Amino acid sequence: MYEFAISDDLSSEAHYDDLVAAAEALVAGEPDAIANMANVAALIWQYVPDLNWAGFYRVIDDELVLGPFQGKAACIRIEIGKGVCGTAAATGETQRVADVHAFPGHIACDADSRSELVIPIFKDNQVVAVLDLDSPLPDRFSESDQAGLTRLVTKIANALG
Ligand code: SME
Repeated sequence: MYEFAISDDLSSEAHYDDLVAAAEALVAGEPDAIANMANVAALIWQYVPDLNWAGFYRVIDDELVLGPFQGKAACIRIEIGKGVCGTAAATGETQRVADVHAFPGHIACDADSRSELVIPIFKDNQVVAVLDLDSPLPDRFSESDQAGLTRLVTKIANALG
């Protein structure tokens, strides 16, 4: 089991500095993307509060396919362009959604979800996967959460795809 020294100041840059460092340490030397996604989903689940789902969808043959995650069982396949995840994959742009009920086409895998953050992961300028976080709290994700988690997936993108 791994234990990391993560800052308690949960929304701070220092907290995400620690999370990024922990994620880099976890994936170091491991070439298997699925194993790395599994550990990173667990790390985020443990250290980012107020989540009901945290995990990955991978781009496979022009659709998103469920990858390693923490939370309730979820939709397995999502068309590129559909829902919050498919929109992030189609546009290559992070989707930070304060109220999922107001997002046209939102796919409700877990009825508890109220807000969502989906960050595309790039390899060779192509979206290879997305990181998807759901919260039961409305407007859970701040700009600093987005910035910290974007740093995290950018730093370890090569280990995830
Ligand atoms: N809500 C997502 C679907 C995935 S689940 O949240 C795990 C969407 O609209 O794409």
